[in-house]
Amino acid sequence: MEDEIQILRAAFPSRRIELSLVEPGEAMVDASRLREAVANLVSNAAQHGSGETVDVAVRGAEGQLVVEVSNDGHLSEHELSNLFEPFKATRRDFHGQQANLGLGLFICRQIVDAHGGKISIASNSGRVRVSMQFPNQ
Ligand SMILES: Nc1ncnc2c1ncn2[C@@H]1O[C@H](COP(=O)(O)OP(=O)(O)O)[C@@H](O)[C@H]1O
Ligand SMILES: [Mg+2]
Repeated sequence: MEDEIQILRAAFPSRRIELSLVEPGEAMVDASRLREAVANLVSNAAQHGSGETVDVAVRGAEGQLVVEVSNDGHLSEHELSNLFEPFKATRRDFHGQQANLGLGLFICRQIVDAHGGKISIASNSGRVRVSMQFPNQ
């Protein structure tokens, strides 16, 4: 996980990416898929968040591995309603050859679902927080 965070720090030098690892324990997680999901979430926080700091918290809780990525920002009820759908991008998300197709959170959900886990996103008090829970077996 530290390696992936180092790579993301290099990719987003203007953001401060803080990692907190608290007794993550054991979980049956495909390591490269977990890194892919974390990279998607941290990229989102860096690209779409409004603050400088991105917090990544990894901890064990009641037999689950919990990974939370949070940043300053706000999402409306309407925006929150379809964030895990694929291809939700609008025309304004296209910049020349580069497009944000709106697949990032969809892919995270696929990865979490494949592990029998749960993913959620919440926006409150000026903070956007995505939480992934992976069961421990
Ligand atoms: N951490 C975040 N903070 C604020 N907005 C976010 C965050 N993550 C996602 N979003 C919003 O949700 C949309 C969908 O995210 P995602 O599925 O990763 O697609 P993409 O990044 O390709 O647009 C983003 O375009 C952005 O508007
Ligand atoms: Mg994205």
